[in-house]
Amino acid sequence: MNEHWHDVLDAHTVLEQGLTSAVVQGHELALYAVGDVIYASENRCTHGDARLSDGFLLDDEIECPLHQGRFSVRTGEPMCAPLRTPVRVFPVRIEAGRVWVALDGSGNGRTCNEER
Ligand code: FES
Repeated sequence: MNEHWHDVLDAHTVLEQGLTSAVVQGHELALYAVGDVIYASENRCTHGDARLSDGFLLDDEIECPLHQGRFSVRTGEPMCAPLRTPVRVFPVRIEAGRVWVALDGSGNGRTCNEER
């Protein structure tokens, strides 16, 4: 499948902040830096009305600010109650220092040293 890539933001913004959000084509994303790997997911918790970018990034898990459920930012899988449904994650690509995300793809993060 040919993915359609969208230029989202500067990679250093994500690396410095660790956790941030961005809107792409009316789609709100949460972006995470785990070491030098950047991951992207939907910014809406699957359990309730909460923005994951308002939560806490704990290693490679994002803790929802509302009921403290945690998702793996690598896979989107729920890691504990009350979560049952995965959050959608998106493929990430780093090009010329920018983060690109494929909203129509599946997969996960990319390091800044792994440009392609
Ligand atoms: S809204 Fe996220 S855990 Fe309940």
